[in-house]
Parts: sequence; structure tokens; C-alpha cells
Amino acid sequence: MADMVHVIDHPVVQDKLTRLRQKETSAGDFRRLLREISMLFTYEVTRDLPLGSATIETPLASMAAPVLAERKLCLVSILRAGNGILDGMLEVIPSASVGHIGLYRDPETLVAVEYYFKMPADVSERHMFVVDPMLATANSATAAVRRLKETAPRSMKFICLVAAPEGITAFHAEHPDVPVYTAAIDERLNDKGYILPGLGDAGDRLYGTK
Ligand code: PRP
Ligand code: URA
Repeated sequence: MADMVHVIDHPVVQDKLTRLRQKETSAGDFRRLLREISMLFTYEVTRDLPLGSATIETPLASMAAPVLAERKLCLVSILRAGNGILDGMLEVIPSASVGHIGLYRDPETLVAVEYYFKMPADVSERHMFVVDPMLATANSATAAVRRLKETAPRSMKFICLVAAPEGITAFHAEHPDVPVYTAAIDERLNDKGYILPGLGDAGDRLYGTK
């Protein structure tokens, strides 16, 4: 199962994550850092896309040059904090189509409640990247991926910024076939289901709602 969890330990990503975690980081800086990290993530999570070849003309010669063989990608944001990752990834792969799934954690039960679901019509032809900064209990990610599997994408990856060990275990108990990409695996959850040390509530920090 270890190869189904990828920790993106690039020093530039780690430095930005540290700044993003700090409580005095403003919503504007939080958004910017998350967008920048997500742009860097895109390199890692698309690393295994197959390459084809196209004949092109440079000013000096013709050559068989590498081109992406698979261009049909779909980014799915788990609302609302997923939009912070979505924005950065779209800057790198602007041609990707986008789906949204709206979920919030009931603060008492921590169960994920779905309130929105909209996917591209041709999603079954696409490689899917599901994004949400936090994998805590994994109730949200597990429910989202369960729902998204009904659309039968060609492949699926889950991308987050910070994961709890408990969340990774719970996620892979139901979805052992979906790799998780994260910048950090933190210590544990607290009794309210928040990741420690974590970064607090990602949606609130992203949009300044608390
Ligand atoms: C946060 C976060 C994840 C979820 C993670 O969303 O963005 O979706 O919690 O927690 P879990 O792994 O225990 O399910 P939240 O429910 O706060 O909604 P929001 O993005 O609208 O703020
Ligand atoms: N959701 C968040 O935004 N942060 C956590 O630590 C856990 C769930």
C-alpha cells in the first residue's frame, strides 16, 4: 500500500507549506501559497501521463517531438477548500475540464453531507484528479470518491496538502485503488477531527470566513 501514498517532499513545496501553516498568514497569502504549491503539485501528479510523438519543424530541421498522448484530464474540486488547489492546477493545465462536488462536514458527527454535484458530460473518457487540501477523518474524501466512481473516469488520483495518518488508513480501507498525493502526513486528529499540527480550517483560512 505504501506506493499508493506519495509525499511530495520537494524543498520549495515544504517551505511554502510551512508559511501557509503559520497562524499569522493572511487569507491573501494563504490563497497565493496554496495556488503556488498546487502548480508545483501538478508536475508530480501528471508525471505518469503517457507521451506520444508529433513531427514538427524547428527553424533548422524537422524532428519527432514529444507531446502528451492523453489530454483528457478532469480536475474535481471538493468545495469549498478544494478550489484553492484547483486554481493553481488550472494555471498549469488550463485545458483540463472541471467538476465540482459540494460537501461539508457536519460539525457534530463529522459525517460528510453532499449539497452539490456537477461533472463534465464526457468524464468517463478522462483521467480524474480529485482535490481537497485536508484529509482528516477522510469522511469527505471517501464519500466524494465513492460518488465520483459512479461516473467511471479512466483513472483517479486524490490530491491534498495535509493528511492525517487516520485519514489515509480510512480512505484506503474503502478506496485501495486510488493513490493519495500529499505534501505532509501529520501526527494525528484532535477530538474535534482537526489535523494536528495541521493548519486549522482550510476553507475559513482560504476565504477569511472566521
Ligand atoms: C474541510 C476540508 C475537507 C474536510 C476534511 O471541509 O476542506 O473537505 O473538511 O475533513 P474530513 O477528512 O474529516 O472529512 P469543510 O467540511 O470544513 O467544508 P468547507 O471546505 O466548505 O469549509
Ligand atoms: N478540515 C480542515 O479544514 N482542517 C482540518 O484540520 C480538518 C478538517
